[in-house]
Amino acid sequence: MKILVVGNGGREHTLAWKLANDSAKPEIFCTPGNAGTAELGTNLSFDATDLEGIKSWCVENKPDLVVVGPEAPLCAGLTDLLEAEGIRVFGPCKAAAELEGSKQFAKEVMKAGGVPTSAYETFTHSDEACAYVRERGAPIVIKADGLAAGKGVTVAETVEQAEAAIRDALEGNAFGDAGSRVVIEDFLMGEEASILALIDGEHVVMLASSQDHKRIFEKDQGPNTGGMGAYSPASIVNDTVWQKVKDEVYGRTLAELKKRGITYKGVLYAGLMIQDDQPSVVEFNCRFGDPETQAALSRWDGDMLPAINGVIDGNLSEEMVAWKDEHSVCVVMVAGGYPGSYAKGDVIENLDVANAVSDTVVFHAGTALKDDQVVTAGGRVLGITSLGKDLPDALSKAYIAVESISFKDAFYRNDIAHREMKRLGLDFNQE
Ligand code: GLY
Repeated sequence: MKILVVGNGGREHTLAWKLANDSAKPEIFCTPGNAGTAELGTNLSFDATDLEGIKSWCVENKPDLVVVGPEAPLCAGLTDLLEAEGIRVFGPCKAAAELEGSKQFAKEVMKAGGVPTSAYETFTHSDEACAYVRERGAPIVIKADGLAAGKGVTVAETVEQAEAAIRDALEGNAFGDAGSRVVIEDFLMGEEASILALIDGEHVVMLASSQDHKRIFEKDQGPNTGGMGAYSPASIVNDTVWQKVKDEVYGRTLAELKKRGITYKGVLYAGLMIQDDQPSVVEFNCRFGDPETQAALSRWDGDMLPAINGVIDGNLSEEMVAWKDEHSVCVVMVAGGYPGSYAKGDVIENLDVANAVSDTVVFHAGTALKDDQVVTAGGRVLGITSLGKDLPDALSKAYIAVESISFKDAFYRNDIAHREMKRLGLDFNQE
């Protein structure tokens, strides 16, 4: 059995690792992959957005399954393209991926379906947008409508910051076409958490909860990143929140999509803000989260392929998904300077030492092989992920492994899971 994983980040290494360990023992291909996926199978040379290249390879090599990791190829229609060739694909079609591809579309669906989310308006002219911001006040959130590689969101603390973000997007072309329309949303108070769900068009199976850490510095300071670490489960997602997410978020969203003739098949990531046990949707993503995938999939008990097949075949059920009782932590190591400019090509030492720490896997993100050595090749470099009998145990293993790895100007946060540790009365003495 041949499986192709599309993408080259920590999420894709984690998906490839989970699938490679399936009892069906599939042969793994990854495109373009990284140094971690190269250890699990064969890396191909097509970029994740090279839809025609990926299609040609699939037509010639006939993989039994293609798992698409990132949003860009999904929003560009890779699933539709491959399905038209009779290839089995895990990932939503283009129309369904619009939940991530257009913030306006996602908001429209949520508003029409009664999904809890913040009030919003959309604008293409900056004067009208700025007038709306002055009327609404700050804090307020400005989002580029389209895909902006994680950079299109400004949480403005002041009206002046909001106006600058609007003018950057609408007049300064800061995000190209993706920013030619902005969605302006009320700021939501509360604590963030991520819930991902597998969906087969009808049935929804929610995956283990997790919490990401988006800011670069400890105590959630500094600019946003793709994610500096995650842990699972996140106890802010209690039974009440879980049920509300199932009914009010996934149930209502699917019903509204169905009314519009759109079938969602794949994973749908709900970024949530939770206050007083009420979840509100901050964003939808049409793919697995990164680093939430590392934290959640390391707790997946047993094979994942039956659930993936269930999604594609429309017979997904709760029994296809089981979780280990253990807690997990993923600590992301980044290249110095990230999320600004950073160096590439630095040799990474002691990956074997870190991988030998019990219950620990080093998932690669921005890595490459050069002269038989693993070198840095991106901003987020590694996601060191450990399981433990409880959160402190998982944290202790993960940080022992992190501290054993070295590369020039490596940087990581020391306070991953700080909110959960505080809830446990075990904070890092940092708050
Ligand atoms: N961790 C945030 C994301 O995957 O979008």
